[in-house]
Amino acid sequence: MSTDQTAVASTATPRPPDAAEPARVSTEAQRRRTFAVISHPDAGKSTLTEALALYAERIDSAGAVHGKAGRRGVTSDWMEMERRRGISITSAVLQFGYRDCVINLLDTPGHADFSEDTYRVLAAVDAAVMLLDAAKGLEPQTLKLFDVCRARGIPVITFVNKWDRPGREALELLDEVEQTIGLRPMPVTWPVGVAGELRGLIECATGEFTRFTRTAGGATRATAELVAEAEVAAAEPEFWPTAQDELALLTEIGAGFDEKDFLAGLATPVLFGAALTGVGVARLLDALVELAPSPDARDDAAGTPRALDAPLSGLVFKVQAGMDRAHRDRMAFVRICSGRFERGMVLTHAATGRPFATKYAQSVFGQQRSTVEEAFPGDIVGLVNAGALRPGDTLYAADPVEFPAIPSFAPEHFAVVRGADAGTFKQFRRGIDQLDSEGVIQVLVSDRRGDQAPVLAAVGPLQFEVVLDRLVNEFRAPARLEPLGYSVARRTDADGAAQLADQSEVEVLTRRSDGALLAVFSNKWRLETVRRKLPDVTLDPLPAGSALR
Ligand code: G4P
Repeated sequence: MSTDQTAVASTATPRPPDAAEPARVSTEAQRRRTFAVISHPDAGKSTLTEALALYAERIDSAGAVHGKAGRRGVTSDWMEMERRRGISITSAVLQFGYRDCVINLLDTPGHADFSEDTYRVLAAVDAAVMLLDAAKGLEPQTLKLFDVCRARGIPVITFVNKWDRPGREALELLDEVEQTIGLRPMPVTWPVGVAGELRGLIECATGEFTRFTRTAGGATRATAELVAEAEVAAAEPEFWPTAQDELALLTEIGAGFDEKDFLAGLATPVLFGAALTGVGVARLLDALVELAPSPDARDDAAGTPRALDAPLSGLVFKVQAGMDRAHRDRMAFVRICSGRFERGMVLTHAATGRPFATKYAQSVFGQQRSTVEEAFPGDIVGLVNAGALRPGDTLYAADPVEFPAIPSFAPEHFAVVRGADAGTFKQFRRGIDQLDSEGVIQVLVSDRRGDQAPVLAAVGPLQFEVVLDRLVNEFRAPARLEPLGYSVARRTDADGAAQLADQSEVEVLTRRSDGALLAVFSNKWRLETVRRKLPDVTLDPLPAGSALR
């Protein structure tokens, strides 16, 4: 396989224009629903992902996609690090058909896998499912991801999971969503029976009741049957009247569905269920099809929308290295924004103006990959040999376009990195430059610390591991980290930097990628103390700063 894109480019033949293509692109785009699940670890994201695919008949039994604990049999061999730790740091992109739609579900890696890529995935979706554990409600990682959704104007559907086991009250959970993140809940379904004693779900708009009968382990579909009101009222003398009272209250406070508010990010449709037993999963798929927006024209950097049926354009939202060590391979995940993608077409890389061939286009389903022949707005294509591409880059055909860059997110982990071997300093510096420019990690520098000891700043600690791994394996520059006791970053300016210079537990560093001055603090209390002491100093939050809530 050639690693030289330009060499491949010269062999491709341009397709003749097809007059029917714009109409086809629009039709196909309308069928797409591209979304991610935002949640805190253990809320049930993997279980829900599998259940969605199961209910859409994409897989035969749960456990095939992620291979979580207990069912974990398959691990990716893309990086030795992954193998060592038994984790998958590579976002899976699932595509499956449901009703007349094509659903693209993008994974947002969490837990130990949490990294800046997790946030970047949200640059590629049109909607998000906010998954809450019925016993826990809103949790920190969900809040951070929600902040990114809000900043990007991504509409959010809420799924309250684990209703098959004891948890909080439904009304209390809705109240928490409204009070904490200011999103007005609009229940689509309502549970009959408290968490742990779920009898079924009422469809809020019609009053219809569906009873669920659990199947062993949730590995196959739960049976659902429509039951007449009189029958359920007689069978559930305790839970049915309560559910009716709650629904009456919701009607009174005007919690009905309002599409405009949903799309504007002011309100969230809420569904209840249990991913493990399949309850409410098909209803969630229906909600995605019926409520979630299909791809829309995306604004370019100048604010001009690129029409869906314009020539091809795509946004690189993630670049995965080390998927095939023998080839020093990079796979770029590209969200198609306009036009019809056809494998083999030659695109232009907006950042460099150079041609980029797409002979090796793939889709990634869990850990399986297959060749993609064509794709439409909303779809995700994996491009191999993508050494020149960076997250946030634009690829286009014909009419030039460049989408806005994906912002760097608020780092919460900081460490000094030093070459472990004085003889490999040149390689070390080259490696750090490369990883910085790829967006693997943020590199912060200051005159005080010098070139030999830059500060690495990350959203999740996994990013440090990736850096050390790549430095040693790719650049032959073993390095070591010295963690720094900072956890909060704020943007400041030259005047702020001067005023902060003599404060303790604060340091001002320059982010190399964009020259931004970041003031880093040991914790939020220290930040608040400094803010009170120096009220004139600029200390602006960076994107996704909910850690400071
Ligand atoms: P994550 O990807 O969000 O981290 O969560 P994951 O799906 O791995 O689910 C975390 C745990 O919660 C798992 O249990 C899973 O079975 C359980 N779970 C997910 N959805 C539901 C649900 O609707 N009801 C109930 N009762 N449990 C649910 P585990 O014991 O940690 O792992 P496993 O051995 O079952 O895989």
